[in-house]
Amino acid sequence: MIAGHGPLRRLKDGTAELHQEAELHVRILDADATLTDYRRYLAAMFGYHAPLEDALAGHEGLRRAGFDPARRRKSPLLVADLRALGEDPGALPPCVAVPPVTTLPRALGVAYVLEGATLGGRYILAKLPPQLAPLRGRATAFLAGYGAQTGACWRAFAAVVERVLVTPEAEAEAVAGARETFARLIDWLAAQTRAAGAALREAS
Ligand code: HEM
Repeated sequence: MIAGHGPLRRLKDGTAELHQEAELHVRILDADATLTDYRRYLAAMFGYHAPLEDALAGHEGLRRAGFDPARRRKSPLLVADLRALGEDPGALPPCVAVPPVTTLPRALGVAYVLEGATLGGRYILAKLPPQLAPLRGRATAFLAGYGAQTGACWRAFAAVVERVLVTPEAEAEAVAGARETFARLIDWLAAQTRAAGAALREAS
């Protein structure tokens, strides 16, 4: 599914260690993951996706390049999952330190992280530990992502990346945008985990 060379490969290689670090902040595959961990994961992802998707949706260049960010939003899926678990998404805090969406290469770097995560989502969905597996089909719309369309959506995104990122400068800028998107997500996930820990200590 993944291109063997070119800008997409550069994005993957240029963010590989950050992907690994991000994985450490997602606990829902842990053997002892709880429903609370899963709720927190959804809440944190919603807090990051909603403002970032707003920024992407306002980027005219992306649309002109053939990628329609408004149609690619995953936050409605997060809203559905949160509501299915009795949460009010409107009451959740948004991340105020999402990466800037400026030039087209940078916007593509940001989009790369959110689009690529749909590939990982399918994998996570299949591997949920037994205590979370009953959520499948009930509160797993975000993990399911584009569902059967995942491959097609990824290939369409890849085609835009390959059309636009044709200079080393553009490629480097996209990688910088993707790295920043991972880095800020990691900071956000870490802060959410700390906040949850503090709330727990206060309550006990
Ligand atoms: C437990 C957490 C995670 C696991 C186990 C995981 C797993 C995976 C797997 C297996 C793939 C490859 C899928 C394929 O090639 O079909 C993948 C791709 C990817 N994931 Fe994750 N992921 C996790 C978290 C995340 C997070 C939090 C993000 C960022 C929002 C993310 C972003 C990406 C990206 C950008 C790709 C595409 C890499 C490429 O260029 O091929 N992942 N992930």
